[in-house]
Amino acid sequence: MTYGHFDDKKCEYVITRPDTPVPWINYLGCEAYFGIISNTAGGYSFYRDARLRRLTRYRYNNVPFDLGGRYIYLRDNADGSLWSPSWQPTRHEAEDYSCRHGMGYSIIGSTYRRIKAETLYFVPLGENLEIWRLKITNLRRKTVRLSVFSCIEFCLWDAQDDATNFQRNFSTGEIEVEHGVIYHKTEYRERRNHFAYFACSEKLAGYDTQREAFVGAYRSWERPAAVEKGKSFNSHAHGWAPIGSHHVRLTLQPGETREITFLLGYHENPHDRKFVPPGSQTINKESVRPTIARYLQSAEVNNAFETLGQYWHRLLSLFQAITPDKHTNRMVNIWNAYQCMATFNMSRSASFYESGIGRGLGFRDSNQDLLGFVHMIPERARERILDLAATQLDTGGAYHQYQPLTKRGNNDIGGNFNDDPLWLILGVAAYLKETGDWGILDEPVPYDNLAGSEHPLYEHLERSLQYTLDRLGPHALPLIGRADWNDCLNLNCFSDTPGQSFQTTTNKEGKVAESVFIGGMFVLAATELAAIATRHGRRESARKYTAAAATMRATVSTHGWDGEWFLRAYDDYGRKIGSKECTEGKIFIEPQGFCILSGIGLDDGRAETALDSVQRMLATPHGIMLQQPAYSQYYLHLGEISSYPPGYKENAGIFCHNNPWVIIAETLVGNGDRAFDYYLRINPSARSKIIERHRCEPYVYAQMIAGKDAPTHGEAKNSWLTGTAAWNYVAITQWILGIRPTYDGLMVAPVVPTAWKGFNVTRMWQGVQYEISVARRGKGNTVRLVVDGRQIEGNVIPKPAAGIHRVSVKATLE
Ligand code: GLC
Ligand code: GLC
Repeated sequence: MTYGHFDDKKCEYVITRPDTPVPWINYLGCEAYFGIISNTAGGYSFYRDARLRRLTRYRYNNVPFDLGGRYIYLRDNADGSLWSPSWQPTRHEAEDYSCRHGMGYSIIGSTYRRIKAETLYFVPLGENLEIWRLKITNLRRKTVRLSVFSCIEFCLWDAQDDATNFQRNFSTGEIEVEHGVIYHKTEYRERRNHFAYFACSEKLAGYDTQREAFVGAYRSWERPAAVEKGKSFNSHAHGWAPIGSHHVRLTLQPGETREITFLLGYHENPHDRKFVPPGSQTINKESVRPTIARYLQSAEVNNAFETLGQYWHRLLSLFQAITPDKHTNRMVNIWNAYQCMATFNMSRSASFYESGIGRGLGFRDSNQDLLGFVHMIPERARERILDLAATQLDTGGAYHQYQPLTKRGNNDIGGNFNDDPLWLILGVAAYLKETGDWGILDEPVPYDNLAGSEHPLYEHLERSLQYTLDRLGPHALPLIGRADWNDCLNLNCFSDTPGQSFQTTTNKEGKVAESVFIGGMFVLAATELAAIATRHGRRESARKYTAAAATMRATVSTHGWDGEWFLRAYDDYGRKIGSKECTEGKIFIEPQGFCILSGIGLDDGRAETALDSVQRMLATPHGIMLQQPAYSQYYLHLGEISSYPPGYKENAGIFCHNNPWVIIAETLVGNGDRAFDYYLRINPSARSKIIERHRCEPYVYAQMIAGKDAPTHGEAKNSWLTGTAAWNYVAITQWILGIRPTYDGLMVAPVVPTAWKGFNVTRMWQGVQYEISVARRGKGNTVRLVVDGRQIEGNVIPKPAAGIHRVSVKATLE
């Protein structure tokens, strides 16, 4: 069975049946105003923070799964039949249903009884609003009289409160309607200076703003009373549930097409100019009216849509590859880059699996998201780095998360995830290699956002490293704290009480349990910081960090090696985790990937040995599992990892995020065939041929694919917001294709399958366009480079002289 196909030319995925196994979603907006939209127009919108500025309401884990969204109803006024062009919520028998998810937009539509209707949804660049452009065509031979109803349900801003605090919420809802524009102003009377508006380009036959009136008591979205009747109630919400619904009557001649535009937007007023006339409770609409008027014009909508298209065209053109594999091309050139934008913007906050309430931006997550995004909009990466660093504590430690709106560290979750600070070094290193903007290291950045505590960013990096050195355990390996990358390996938690958070409960002192993973990560971070220090004129520090890396490398080699693979950790009793001595959880993926990535084992054959163990014990046709054997029961001393049934999530699921670490490790030992094979196993486009098993969107990575111990082995879950996006982008572009920015030049070091005859890449780097064509002569990975016609030594293209904007590179692999 198939649910759709890729349209690579248009950079779209075209869904051709509405009943996908789970909702297949897209993101609207990429700056401040965001929407999530499913293939049946479900989802919600928010401004900056999915929890604190939620514009529209959405009920997670609903029945059906996806209900509530940006709905349009059509009603044939001759016979009263009604339907929704996006299929939900009426679920009529649609002809030629399609949903085209594209770069920052979705177009959803269908034909019903010879009335064709489709809606384009998008957020114009630079605006805090979304546009729905509905096109209706009468394919009948007779004139048709239609009623069109729009409908959204407003969220009372704080999504958490909105979903829980009904004793208050049912009395606070307020609305204004002026010239057909519906203004949602709950809490505007008090401390909010923002409101939402919902406008329509046509003359209205009526409107509704109270949910109960529009839907009718005891009825549902499937058949709202107003739509059934063909007439709005002109209801005004006072408390209860404010909604926005417009009613437009249309007469369409045979063959005629009409366009209707709806706008949903967010607007803020200065505090002292909230009301007009002053002293009243009426929203001051002076500054929002021009925006509304502008985007209700069809020409403006077309312009804005075109501009969005050009914007994405430019972003995607920064890295384009033509390889012998279509799945690689499609993911690299379109969808993986696109997903990196979403993870950069959302971190792990808002998807169809992340409710937008629970988590802000993760410190660790955001630093990794940078890796796949930094080449696209370096200025935003810069800003993010400074924001993240400003939440760092003066101990070098980090809050695990921060809130995007306040940019403050999140006290509920706190810190002591001992890998967190090291990710800042890796994020900054990637930024420096991409941009050469060494000035960022001198930027004054506070600790914990405290004014007066500013120190240069460079010093933050030093403290990050020192944080690990200050917290070494009995084997001189890094103490793990609450958890390292694996949030669920909670070695100091010892929780036996239901409901306690595995991430914040800490019953042990934390002076014993150590992480080999952080050991590997430290080696990488210290090596990067040494390279940065050298170029930043701190040779003495550079020597210190190089020495620290060497010491840790030796420690990992002595105490972190199990004979055939790297150990995972030592628990609170000082016993090994991820060892042949264990009965369950003998081998873990993370240290194999990360220790090798940091260079450990490359000179003594351990890397190859460990990777062979991974292949033997962890690899499945659906990807590489996190550990084996799965934990069959809950272990007090291991925490959340053992709370999952075998095969899911961190308990031996295929946690896609760390597959690319192994892929990169394979390239480091020169094994392009295996690296690429692993890459394809989790490549969503390649998995579309087993979509009934995979079930999630075939155009983006999911966090997890069920491991072999699960009854649903191969089924993906938690699509979109995962570190897999950035890391796979890095793995394929920088390590398999091997086009890698370094501090001193652009490296060309492909480790591609032996069967590939070659490939081409266009890569924009520091203002220069590199046209690289790679041809294979032999079976190996040795590279010879001819740059602008001249053969050069080694595999790093030096930065060209000023004024040169195009460089042509011919590489041969021997
Ligand atoms: C989730 C978290 C990430 C963590 C991973 C493994 O993806 O967002 O921070 O590293 O799970 O537990
Ligand atoms: C849960 C998830 C894990 C995630 C963590 C973040 O434990 O299973 O994947 O990293 O929450 O706090």
